[in-house]
Amino acid sequence: MNAVPPNLDAAAPAGLSPLEARELVVAHGERVIIDGLELQLPRGRVTAIVGPNGCGKSTLLNALARVLAPRGGSILLDGQDIHRLPARQVARQLALLPQDTAAPEGMTVADLVRFGRQPHQSWLSQWSREDQRAVQRAIRAADLEGMEQRVLDELSGGQRQRAWIAMAVAQSTPTLLLDEPTSALDLGHQIEVFELIRHLACRHGKSIAMVVHDLASACRYADRLIAMREGRIIAQGAPADIMTPALVEQLYGVQCEILPDPATGAPLLVNLRRRRQRRVTAAGTEPPDCVRSPAGYRPPPQAPDRA
Ligand SMILES: Nc1ncnc2c1ncn2[C@@H]1O[C@H](COP(=O)(O)OP(=O)(O)OP(=O)(O)O)[C@@H](O)[C@H]1O
Ligand SMILES: [Mg+2]
Repeated sequence: MNAVPPNLDAAAPAGLSPLEARELVVAHGERVIIDGLELQLPRGRVTAIVGPNGCGKSTLLNALARVLAPRGGSILLDGQDIHRLPARQVARQLALLPQDTAAPEGMTVADLVRFGRQPHQSWLSQWSREDQRAVQRAIRAADLEGMEQRVLDELSGGQRQRAWIAMAVAQSTPTLLLDEPTSALDLGHQIEVFELIRHLACRHGKSIAMVVHDLASACRYADRLIAMREGRIIAQGAPADIMTPALVEQLYGVQCEILPDPATGAPLLVNLRRRRQRRVTAAGTEPPDCVRSPAGYRPPPQAPDRA
């Protein structure tokens, strides 16, 4: 995936956080998922949101992007209540790549990426050369050159994910919210997307929040981590400051050791093992299935069983 050339977008205003949640409460129906959450997205930085399945990461991102209306509290976009701003203004400042994407049948890659320019159009300003350039840059950045006329339904999952990333990039907003942007990508494209994300923050000053399950990538590519559990932020800060074995166990019930990556210094999780759990069967409780070990491997001593 090619780097995006500089000078894409207007500079974001300096100073206050571009996106902030105050005492945020979000519910699905009667069920409150997020309760009293406080968050300030740092400007021009990459923030990774991590946490177990169902802890509310997508719910949070959707609320921040105004897709879900909060039950309580407020969301401020550049200091203004996002729900009082016109939709077009929000769409020029903030792009969301949702976790679940769906496009109309027959839509091509080019159609989808062009759709990202919609907030920049009006009856006064129709499709411009800048729109065309933004689309081409985004297609190049997502390594989709030559695939512009392919129909989305006929792409692989990873190719389709890259098309959606290109759409969000083409929107050219100062803030980007990306929900699991690399979940379907092969290793090479994962690294390219993470490097693109860093490039957009470092070279273009964009403020980016991304939900990521892979803790190694979160630690390596994010300036800041937000760790969520049961709809709350339980830790936040620089990866090297907050990533501890205790946090990993609290988040996932997984025990590990943490070493600094020899190349980057980012925290690396090694020797991962699930906290021992006992299965309850008709015959009583029994220990978990054995994990296959390589020949000569001696498993580390287990912590006392808490199950
Ligand atoms: N549309 C919905 N209606 C009702 N409940 C929902 C809806 N979407 C999500 N939920 C519930 O809200 C909770 C948080 O879901 P959310 O999708 O935010 O989790 P997540 O942290 O993004 O998980 P994952 O890592 O699996 O994507 C879950 O318990 C989920 O079942
Ligand atoms: Mg999710």
